[in-house]
Amino acid sequence: MANVGIIGAGSWGTALSSLLYDNGHQVTVWSIDENEVRMLNEEREHKTKLPGVKLPDDMIFTGDLESAVTEKDVLILAVPSPFTRATAKKMASYVAEGQIIVDVAKGIEESSLKTLSQQIEEEIPQADVAVLSGPSHAEEVGRRLPTTCVIGAKSKETAEYLQKMFISKVFRVYTSPDILGVELGGSLKNVIALAAGIADGLGYGDNTKAALITRGIAEIARLGVKMGGKIQTFTGLTGIGDLIVTCASMHSRNRKAGYLIGQGKSMQEAMDEVKMVVEGVYSAKAAAALAKKYGVSMPIVSEVNAVLFEGKNPAEAVDDLMQRELRSEAAALLWEE
Ligand SMILES: NC(=O)c1ccc[n+]([C@@H]2O[C@H](COP(=O)([O-])OP(=O)(O)OC[C@H]3O[C@@H](n4cnc5c(N)ncnc54)[C@H](O)[C@@H]3O)[C@@H](O)[C@H]2O)c1
Repeated sequence: MANVGIIGAGSWGTALSSLLYDNGHQVTVWSIDENEVRMLNEEREHKTKLPGVKLPDDMIFTGDLESAVTEKDVLILAVPSPFTRATAKKMASYVAEGQIIVDVAKGIEESSLKTLSQQIEEEIPQADVAVLSGPSHAEEVGRRLPTTCVIGAKSKETAEYLQKMFISKVFRVYTSPDILGVELGGSLKNVIALAAGIADGLGYGDNTKAALITRGIAEIARLGVKMGGKIQTFTGLTGIGDLIVTCASMHSRNRKAGYLIGQGKSMQEAMDEVKMVVEGVYSAKAAAALAKKYGVSMPIVSEVNAVLFEGKNPAEAVDDLMQRELRSEAAALLWEE
């Protein structure tokens, strides 16, 4: 049994707290929001973020970061990505040498182009930082529907320790040494999910969706491999797996925001209507900057940026994607001379 501190009490932090408690671990959950802590203590359910999932009486909810961090075997960092660095900074002085932190959020910092684990390592250099990612909507994990994820860690020992901590009959966990690949897949898929939502909002069909998913993972893998991620990761659960679920699911806030934009709403109107952090909007600019930095072609990412930030008409963006210069599907495949 492990003593686990979950930092962030949104949908995903709450779903993981319930999952880990059921696995027999001791769970303390921290939130920055006093009202959220009060609601969780009184209701034993996150009424707005994960309704219907009852939380046990001996799960601790607190607004005191020090007590949530100290003497925990593992910390799960589950705040939305725009708050990761600031939260890590606040935690830093309470984190012990070698304490394991698992980042479960997805995103890239626009200003530094750093992944979340890189940001956490900068703020908390003494921590052993790992990541958990994969096709895993909180609503379905909360309902105990079979789900698979990947733990990325620097050492096999930490990866296997965390694998055993998370694994259950309904939550299967694989391990990987490719932390960067795992994180890039999880963050960049949100940008493609916006595109998939836009296509849905425009009334396009399954052919269009399949094209965006397939060409989307080609873009993600092209950039990811150039940055040092491994191709096997992009064809796995945290790459194509997470992309499929995000582009297809009714639970995806990125897809939903895209849908509203495809229906004619502005980016701000769409974000206001979704009422949650739409991480793809933040990652879109970072993805375009990374594509430029590494000299990689990312046409879908580029069109999403034009729609979000330059007011380009979504239908025109799709037209431009369809009428790009002609190419082969995979540059590495050649005819025999
Ligand atoms: N929801 C999912 O299905 C799911 C699944 C896998 C990964 N993720 C990732 O997990 C991360 C969290 O997602 P979520 O769905 O729980 O988000 P969410 O929108 O439900 O999170 C909101 C919570 O974040 C916390 N918060 C709000 N403002 C904060 C601040 N300024 N500082 C610190 N904490 C603050 C509060 O506890 C709030 O309830 C995201 O990066 C997301 O991509 C989510």
